[in-house]
Amino acid sequence: MRKSDYIANTSISYRKDYGQFFTPSLVGYMMAKWVTENQPKTILDPAFGLGVFYEEISKLNLQYKWHFTAYEIDNKILRYLDNLKKNNNLTLFNQDYLASDINYYDAILCNPPYMRFQKFINRHNILPKIEQQIGKKLVGYSNIASIFLIKALQQLNPDGRLAFILPFEFFNTGYGKEIKKTLIEKHLLKQIIIFANEKDIFPDATTTICILLCQNDRLKQNIKITNINNTQDIQAISNISEYYHYQLNNSQLPHHKKWTPIILSLISEQKIPEGFCKLSEYGTFKRGIATGANDFFALNKSKIDKLQINDNNICLCITKSNLIKKPIFTNNDLELLVRQDKPIYCLNVKEINNQAVLNYIKLGEEKGYHQRYLTKNRKPWYKLEKREPAPILFGVFNRGRLKVIRNFTTAINLTCYHGFYANLFGKNLIDKLFIYLISDVGQNIIKMNKRSYGNNLDKFEPGDLNNSYCPNVEQLNFMNEQEVNKIIEIVNMDKKEAIIMSNKLIEKIIND
Ligand SMILES: C[S@@+](CC[C@H](N)C(=O)[O-])C[C@H]1O[C@@H](n2cnc3c(N)ncnc32)[C@H](O)[C@@H]1O
Repeated sequence: MRKSDYIANTSISYRKDYGQFFTPSLVGYMMAKWVTENQPKTILDPAFGLGVFYEEISKLNLQYKWHFTAYEIDNKILRYLDNLKKNNNLTLFNQDYLASDINYYDAILCNPPYMRFQKFINRHNILPKIEQQIGKKLVGYSNIASIFLIKALQQLNPDGRLAFILPFEFFNTGYGKEIKKTLIEKHLLKQIIIFANEKDIFPDATTTICILLCQNDRLKQNIKITNINNTQDIQAISNISEYYHYQLNNSQLPHHKKWTPIILSLISEQKIPEGFCKLSEYGTFKRGIATGANDFFALNKSKIDKLQINDNNICLCITKSNLIKKPIFTNNDLELLVRQDKPIYCLNVKEINNQAVLNYIKLGEEKGYHQRYLTKNRKPWYKLEKREPAPILFGVFNRGRLKVIRNFTTAINLTCYHGFYANLFGKNLIDKLFIYLISDVGQNIIKMNKRSYGNNLDKFEPGDLNNSYCPNVEQLNFMNEQEVNKIIEIVNMDKKEAIIMSNKLIEKIIND
């Protein structure tokens, strides 16, 4: 109730500014149960929000005296918590946790604000203080959540337990290395819980979520890996420490390596083959052009004729995902779309004094397109971002098989697709990369970096693709070019056969 009231009365941008995304009570309950197994007397929540962890611990009816300390920086959210103020076992500080003194606790539960440090105004006062408290330099930490974790780990009493929510990607960041080292070397990390279809469980989350369970007992134990698929899974768990799918010893999680591929290759049936490298070795996926008003910018032939806008002020552009239905997109396909009067152009103003263009811009302003979120921050508001045509397009949202297009046209694309821009190494390997991306191995490996939206809908950010694995140059060079060309020739007519042929080519380079 508190949560729905708060969300209804608070703008998304306000919540974003404070990193306010809330833990579902089922997850809070699971964390509360775990940290209270060894009867903690003092409990801390560094980022209280609407107090889900306090609430879940209260529901456990612990048969001993315990005290809960919490920090919350936002006084607006605290106004929704008036009913908690009279509770004797809760001390709630309306303060910045990072600026607080170091005290020690038997249990810590936290879902920290996840935001870039740059946004954090007090940064220059706070970092030196924490560095002094923990006796370590904090260089390169770009996200506040990681500082919350470092500080919280410091505040655990011997044998104390910590349950901490983090974006899964944290394990791949440069600044995560030092924390990973501490977690492993001090034998703090006991279990990692990954939410495979996190949109079912964390509807608000914009990244893949995981939970770290740590205990300050110095016991050298295997690290358990748990994969949770849906809310039913959580409901069925009676004891999370006994619910796991894999165990890794410390040496299997080296702190200098990225952990996501290591962990995902356990969970996924697909393993990352030997020798594979990052897709970013060959170039970069970038998001398509964000116009901020596709209704205004996307044009079809008849509208262009009616408005009398000349060729200098438009460009060929894939404005919608479903304009491309087949894996190979050629000039013939483009011409067909023109003839079918599909929105395959985008306004790209080059001649500002052209009367037809001026009229259309005026019409746009009358309709308020210049006041949209993106357009109002652009100068002039109708200016189009610069993009070259991308030879490989990748669907942003995918259901089932991932949508990969080999684009042979000069059309650029809007945000419905991410476009691949090859570097010097990738330039001559485009067709081979395409073959890899349509193959089953390629699809499964790329899917390791997906963001699940439930209902089988997967989303990819450009970084997810750039961080995906693919064959190295030697392996790609080993691919038979004639066969590659043949697959490209037939894929539009017989996709199934093309995938079978691609699978064979990829298996060959993996096994040889
Ligand atoms: C991700 S939310 C989690 C809230 C709640 N614990 C939950 O799990 O639902 C993080 C909370 O930390 C608060 N916060 C942000 N920066 C903070 C800081 N420096 N010190 C204390 N609280 C902070 C935000 O206002 C927000 O309520």
